Amino acid sequence: MDSLKGPTEWGEGRHGVGPWEGEHPTDPRYDAALLAEGDTRNVVDAYRYWTREAIVADIDTRRHPLHIAIENFENDANIGTVVRTANAFAVDTVHIVGRRRWNRRGAMVTDRYQHLMHHPDVHSLLVWAIRNDLTVVAIDNTPGSVPLETVELPRECLLLFGQEGPGISPEAADGALMTCSIAQFGSTRSINAGVAAGIAMHAWIRQHGDLTQAW
Ligand SMILES: C[S@@+](CC[C@H](N)C(=O)[O-])C[C@H]1O[C@@H](n2cnc3c(N)ncnc32)[C@H](O)[C@@H]1O
Repeated sequence: MDSLKGPTEWGEGRHGVGPWEGEHPTDPRYDAALLAEGDTRNVVDAYRYWTREAIVADIDTRRHPLHIAIENFENDANIGTVVRTANAFAVDTVHIVGRRRWNRRGAMVTDRYQHLMHHPDVHSLLVWAIRNDLTVVAIDNTPGSVPLETVELPRECLLLFGQEGPGISPEAADGALMTCSIAQFGSTRSINAGVAAGIAMHAWIRQHGDLTQAW
């Protein structure tokens, strides 16, 4: 039943749509090659046949005042997942702290539609956040952290995540207004950083997102 389908299933299925049928539209947001050859990209149906630039410009009109940062001093493999989820939630910018290189595989090409910024170290990120009136909230289950489930997150917010292994760096935790933990109930000491980022982003969306604007 069509009414039970979600946004990624409304079109022609997982392989996208074929060439545009009939006369091609003249709206400059449309991409001539995609109209001619079809659009198999992983984009919501509203953006079918649009150029990448037009899609980014449209998301830019309604990005959230939410920024995500992840420490990347050991080439963290979770960054692709973080970028993909940030794209889904129309996050303003994903900040990579430390190494410039990261594994793009998990991003599933969503990095083409997501603003990314690199900072060589935590200090540079914190200075940037102050200049841009963002409140930094570290996310980790370290001593002294407060439950994410009970806090009110700032609206103009930068959520900062640590890496697999070392977790959040002391400098990052010191520079944050607070550190928030995600409640756990099993045996593992922590969850995957990409999963933690998804949970925290959604916590912000539940508090500040306008659901009438969601697909
Ligand atoms: C796999 S964790 C490693 C560090 C973790 N503190 C430990 O003791 O194992 C990597 C990152 O994922 C996030 N993370 C994982 N589990 C979390 C939790 N329960 N609460 C908040 N953040 C978490 C944090 O950003 C953390 O820095």
